[in-house]
Amino acid sequence: MKNIVVLISGNGSNLQAVIDACQLNKIGGQICAVFSNNADAYGLLRATQADIPAHTISPENYADRRAYDEALKHAIDQYQPDLVVLAGYMRILTSDFVQHYLGRLLNIHPSLLPKYPGLHTHRKAIENGDTEHGTSVHFVTEELDGGPVILQAKVPIFADDLEEDIIKRVQTQEHNIYPLVINWFVEGRLSMLNGKAYLDGNSLPPQGYATE
Ligand code: GAR
Repeated sequence: MKNIVVLISGNGSNLQAVIDACQLNKIGGQICAVFSNNADAYGLLRATQADIPAHTISPENYADRRAYDEALKHAIDQYQPDLVVLAGYMRILTSDFVQHYLGRLLNIHPSLLPKYPGLHTHRKAIENGDTEHGTSVHFVTEELDGGPVILQAKVPIFADDLEEDIIKRVQTQEHNIYPLVINWFVEGRLSMLNGKAYLDGNSLPPQGYATE
């Protein structure tokens, strides 16, 4: 059974999707711990309710980002993870942290990368008059939201959409694609080599695996 550690900062709806998928054996692994930088994150409660150890590591207790990430790394490694999953984890990671988990660190980002790295992606899509938006699961590298894409899901943007409508539509897709990709990883089908993502030994194109 592969060990998965999940990092969150907030609601944890993606964490919940992964918890559910593990319970339904749609992921052949187990979440052995959840870490948050925010003690009020609702996702911590979701973890506790699923009998998963839930920890907060508060940035204010550390001198700088480097010291924080060192402490986080040390705490995560107590669980000997095969995979570390960022699920709405809203802190920038140090390059030491990224290098330590390189090739076994995944993120989900609410845009069709490389479009809209960073924050407020849904708002940017509306402001630019886009007719579609989406989400990307990717390996994490030192470039913010820049690692190789594994899988994307698209959603339409309608003329009268509010930002919340699009957030909701995107998140519904996130809850489908993140467990799927995590299962590919725990089954040993997915890897990263020289900055490229591979599925079943085939290198994935820039937009990730496509069924179209
Ligand atoms: C998700 O939509 C995720 O894509 C986004 O935060 C949300 C967390 O929701 N992540 C980022 O913006 C990272 N750059 P959740 O806490 O309900 O899973």
